[in-house]
Amino acid sequence: MELKQIRVGADNFCYIIYSKKDKLAAIVDPGYEPEQAINFIINNDLTLYYIIITHYHSDHSYAVNSVKNQYPEAKLIASKIDGEKIDANIDISVNGGDKLKLGEINLDFILTPGHTQGGICIIVDNKAIITGDTLFIGDCGRTDLPGGDLHIMYETLKNKIMSLPDSLIVYPGHDYGGKPYDMLGNQKKTNKTLNVKNFDDFSKI
Ligand SMILES: [Fe+2]
Repeated sequence: MELKQIRVGADNFCYIIYSKKDKLAAIVDPGYEPEQAINFIINNDLTLYYIIITHYHSDHSYAVNSVKNQYPEAKLIASKIDGEKIDANIDISVNGGDKLKLGEINLDFILTPGHTQGGICIIVDNKAIITGDTLFIGDCGRTDLPGGDLHIMYETLKNKIMSLPDSLIVYPGHDYGGKPYDMLGNQKKTNKTLNVKNFDDFSKI
């Protein structure tokens, strides 16, 4: 499994999950400057198989149709709830617990509402987790935008993110932290939104 992190727009991250062996690729969150991801795919002789949207916000989904126009065979993946808010036809609606294969690479989808109602995280080969705007390095996503909910974000972080293996590398949707990615085990200790005792503490951050 290979993972390419691409900084686009002001501070967004777009990702390419790919395998050097079978040459299949998935783009995660083609928001801005899709040519960066497409050039990477072309230069590495990859075939785009999936386009995955972590959540519907335009900075993560704006370029979906331009990528789809260039790669009409690629399947567009989002959760059912957030997929309905994207101006494109979703080919595969994923729910929490769903698994897909990208060649030899295993993709596990977790439903992580809080920033949006249908936000998802993607675990790649049990090594990396692409967290969209659910979890940043040192912070979590906003809950004051439409569909956001502070209580639900707390439950997502406590019940879903905190129970994942420490060895996963967190790849966030924005470059908001002191580093572009980090081990989840380190985030559990140092991220103020994970390192809380109860909802009352969380709500005061
Ligand atoms: Fe967002």
